[in-house]
Amino acid sequence: MPKLEIERITYTYREAGKPVLALQDVSLALADGEFVTLIGPSGSGKSTLLEMIVGLLQPDSGLIRINNEPTTKRLGRVAYMPQQDALLPWRTILENVVLAPEVQRKNRRQAKAHARELMPLFGLNGFENAFPAQLSGGMRQRAAFLRTFLAGQDILLLDEPFGALDALTRRELQDWLLGIWQHFQYTILFVTHDVEESIYLADRVLVLSQRPGRIVQELTVPLPRPRQEWIANHPTDMIALETQLLAALRG
Ligand SMILES: Nc1ncnc2c1ncn2[C@@H]1O[C@H](COP(=O)(O)OP(=O)(O)OP(=O)(O)O)[C@@H](O)[C@H]1O
Ligand SMILES: [Mg+2]
Repeated sequence: MPKLEIERITYTYREAGKPVLALQDVSLALADGEFVTLIGPSGSGKSTLLEMIVGLLQPDSGLIRINNEPTTKRLGRVAYMPQQDALLPWRTILENVVLAPEVQRKNRRQAKAHARELMPLFGLNGFENAFPAQLSGGMRQRAAFLRTFLAGQDILLLDEPFGALDALTRRELQDWLLGIWQHFQYTILFVTHDVEESIYLADRVLVLSQRPGRIVQELTVPLPRPRQEWIANHPTDMIALETQLLAALRG
């Protein structure tokens, strides 16, 4: 039984002037505990798709199922990390990460205690009372992750969380995220437009076409984990997969 299932979703933006068909007939399914990456050119509808799964947008047609239940009221059922890390600059790190429990009107003291417990795992120990501007880019991303995890859901939708980081920090955070994923057994849909990243992280890669976005390729990544070691010893495996994805991206 899939954890998250999307069946023949179509979405048109109708706000400004003429309608823009953003997604056409998109179907996908994530198994429980699976790590799936979604890759596509800029404007192909990746963020639109995540916003639809979260429940911020409703599809024109099609169905979204969570735990096998068709659902139109999805807000709060999945955890979502938007493309721009939206830490509030006037709140400390601790106050930022407990935002979701606060909005859900859960016990504030308990939420803060839980957040404090998790700080070391997120490399934020000692920064509870710092403000976002006092943190490095990588630390800010980890804080945004912690806030996403504290939403208390087992499905995570992550929109290009490492887009703005240098290569070294990015690799470090990728390995860190894989550790967290394995530890908590999350089901993850991760958006990126980096081909190498899409393979490195995933059990399976989905390729979205130019607008209107359609799924044009699905690639199961046959490389064993941990990937770091494997790729260092078998670099040609990685290159072959990258070549295949680049061809799909070019259409
Ligand atoms: N509010 C809106 N009104 C009209 N069109 C929109 C709106 N938001 C997005 N679009 C259009 O829908 C398409 C998909 O946008 P979306 O942000 O989902 O792309 P994306 O794949 O996430 O791109 P990127 O990789 O740059 O983040 C784009 O062509 C965009 O111009
Ligand atoms: Mg986007």
